[in-house]
Amino acid sequence: MDNAFIATNLDWDHRTPTNGQRFVNRVLRKLGMHVRLSPAPSDMANVEARMNLFHLLEQTVAFGIPGDVVDLGCNAGDSSVVMQTVIQGLAPEKQVHAFDSFEGLPELTENDRGDGVYSKGHMAAPIDQFKRKFEALGLTLPHIHKGWFEQTVPSALPDRISFALIDGDLYESTRHVLPYVYERMAPGAIGMIAVYYDACVFPRKGIHPGYRSPGVKRATDEFFADKPEKVSLLYANEYSNGYFRKK
Ligand SMILES: C[S@@+](CC[C@H](N)C(=O)[O-])C[C@H]1O[C@@H](n2cnc3c(N)ncnc32)[C@H](O)[C@@H]1O
Repeated sequence: MDNAFIATNLDWDHRTPTNGQRFVNRVLRKLGMHVRLSPAPSDMANVEARMNLFHLLEQTVAFGIPGDVVDLGCNAGDSSVVMQTVIQGLAPEKQVHAFDSFEGLPELTENDRGDGVYSKGHMAAPIDQFKRKFEALGLTLPHIHKGWFEQTVPSALPDRISFALIDGDLYESTRHVLPYVYERMAPGAIGMIAVYYDACVFPRKGIHPGYRSPGVKRATDEFFADKPEKVSLLYANEYSNGYFRKK
């Protein structure tokens, strides 16, 4: 399947430096400093993360892994659009399920407050914005589960999952959904953890630390400490992604 739609239909977040930044970059280069300014990254998945999503999801279809597809933290729909496009085109018998509060992040607990990164309501995207994205692209709407994960997961999860994107940004959100998703995954199913940031994939020099979500990696690593699967890393520009394949 061709994946050009990822760049043509969505914000492709190339982050070209502004004229002012170009000027500063030239000065920095002349001074022999190996840093470069560019616009701040957005809160949402960048184009590299969507490419990772596309290829991982397509693999589960190619290997014939049974089960439906879930997007846990769908926000305004950029990730769900990629998932729905792949499923509609290659495996229309599968269903896509999108979960979000559509009110942004929940109240932080002790487990996230210490990271000092986000606050309640951050990243709120109304459900209408999500629906409009699908209408504009002529795609079927996925099943939408509006509410806090603590209320919708596990009750609204499909019984069998072939692919899951876990993109809740917080320790608490990741910790809550992982066990329920994991136990429903068929052998060979893939779980992608967005913003599983690891400095060995991207050192983040010069990038504002406010975009880190250290709780996601913490919760994921804790969960997998006694599991046979290994979380692998994928480059995603200013983020890095993790994924595991269920044994
Ligand atoms: C980074 S955004 C997701 C981006 C999206 N996957 C994309 O690629 O465009 C994280 C989303 O998770 C949602 N979220 C985080 N924790 C949640 C929780 N406990 N319950 C419901 N939604 C939650 C937020 O509302 C937010 O929209």
